[in-house]
Amino acid sequence: MSNRPDLPPEIARRRTFAIISHPDAGKTTLTEKFLLFGGAIQMAGQVRAKGEARRTRSDFMKLEQDRGISVSASAMSFDFRQYRFNLVDTPGHSDFSEDTYRTLTAVDAAIMVIDGAKGVESQTRKLFEVCRLRDLPILTFCNKMDRESRDTFEIIDEIQENLAIDVAPASWPIGMGRDFLGCYDILHDRLELMDRADRNRVAESIKISGLDDPKLAEHVPAEQLEKLREELEMARELLPAFDRQSFLEGHMTPIWFGSAINSFGVKELMDGIGEYGPEPQIQKSAERGVAPEETKVTGFVFKVQANMDPKHRDRVAFVRLASGHFERGMKLLHVRSGKPMAVSNPVLFLAADRELAEEAWAGDIIGIPNHGQLRIGDALTEGEKLRFTGIPSFAPELLQSVRATDPMKGKHLEKALMQFAEEGAAKVFKPSIGSGFIVGVVGALQFDVLASRIEIEYGIPVRFEPSQFTSARWVLGPKDTVEKLANANKQHISTDHDGDIVFLTRLQWDIDRVVRDYPGVTLSATKEMM
Ligand code: G4P
Repeated sequence: MSNRPDLPPEIARRRTFAIISHPDAGKTTLTEKFLLFGGAIQMAGQVRAKGEARRTRSDFMKLEQDRGISVSASAMSFDFRQYRFNLVDTPGHSDFSEDTYRTLTAVDAAIMVIDGAKGVESQTRKLFEVCRLRDLPILTFCNKMDRESRDTFEIIDEIQENLAIDVAPASWPIGMGRDFLGCYDILHDRLELMDRADRNRVAESIKISGLDDPKLAEHVPAEQLEKLREELEMARELLPAFDRQSFLEGHMTPIWFGSAINSFGVKELMDGIGEYGPEPQIQKSAERGVAPEETKVTGFVFKVQANMDPKHRDRVAFVRLASGHFERGMKLLHVRSGKPMAVSNPVLFLAADRELAEEAWAGDIIGIPNHGQLRIGDALTEGEKLRFTGIPSFAPELLQSVRATDPMKGKHLEKALMQFAEEGAAKVFKPSIGSGFIVGVVGALQFDVLASRIEIEYGIPVRFEPSQFTSARWVLGPKDTVEKLANANKQHISTDHDGDIVFLTRLQWDIDRVVRDYPGVTLSATKEMM
């Protein structure tokens, strides 16, 4: 089923999405089952070690050393039935919210995983809000139904109340905890029974013709059956029925109940993504909306990962193809520099392996190895000067100054910092007075990760120290006014890695003063990366 019947079949079968969840709700387990049913891994357990959210601080650093793992987990492609799924990984730790935000600019939908006993948690809410800003369609998976969980109506109510979105049950759980039998598939009138004996086996599926079908009684004990009928009756009265349009517009989320660890409910969820979509969507650029079926190839960089191989200073830029049919070896225009770029060794990420991408279609994510030309927000096209929008950079909330403990390594440190800034791992500001650098991040853990990466990847031990500044704002406005402002406020002025002027301060008062004294100038907490 497609809401865009005009799409070429290769594009129409693509589903590009991310999974969002609060740590521990089951994102890793669900990802693993997706890959298992997508034929991308042979055995459950292969992804387990990659559960970012569960990593401790030291685990995280080790992971950062082992670039291969975290990179291959950034975007995974696999086939399921007639569909091609592109699952883009969102970083689990809340300190990396900016990265998460950018990741969500590359997908067309998100799966929200919640723990049936815990409901909507803090991180679920934050990530949900980001999805809402982009009107992303959201499918919900209520996990861990094999454990004691909340009452089904209560869970649905909580989502509706907390996230202000309509919830339409796609399936309905029968029993819970030890008595959890499986689900009634409301959208297809099927009974799905869980196989407790084998966690990787798919459950038994029984076609039912409505709730009065005598087959139900053969599989569900009388007491539970009565309760199921009652609840479904109530659900029909109290809850909205699934409406695909409302889902695609981001106003309604269908909810499936299951148990990822028991592989239960996972295929139904995958079928849901396949059947209801969405297929690759129109991507916004400053010039126009770019439709996936346009024949010319376009794409944008939403993530850069540097130093995947410490022996070569190469990086991989992750590109979401917005339109067209890409073939290996194509020459594309790198819009920011105006230079052509031959894309000769693009990679696709198939679970744990990277593979050369011979071709890719709108909706796909390809990795392009490069030496630093490609930055977050960059557009690649067949000649058109497009600037994709909606990939913001946020003002950091924590600022520290950084020094190499060996003063001889100052120059190298600058290079390292610039690389991390381009990768989007941190903001780096060069104050107009003095010689050091100010590094800005969103969460404190990022300082530790940076210090460790600078030492491991560049061999430069560094120290982060408190800085006199707490806020950074991009200075936007007419060039001459900005220059006047900069000259009169030298002690506050710095440049970021793009050379854009940034106002640093400790006091809101300073910001108010500048805005008052220099009409036409804005001090902005975000900047579009393009
Ligand atoms: P995350 O990536 O969202 O952080 O969650 P993850 O999949 O790592 O799952 C968190 C914990 O919840 C894991 O247990 C996992 O086994 C368990 N879990 C996931 N799905 C289900 C489910 O359907 N039912 C039940 N009962 N548990 C589930 P752990 O003890 O932290 O790890 P492990 O010892 O199982 O590896």
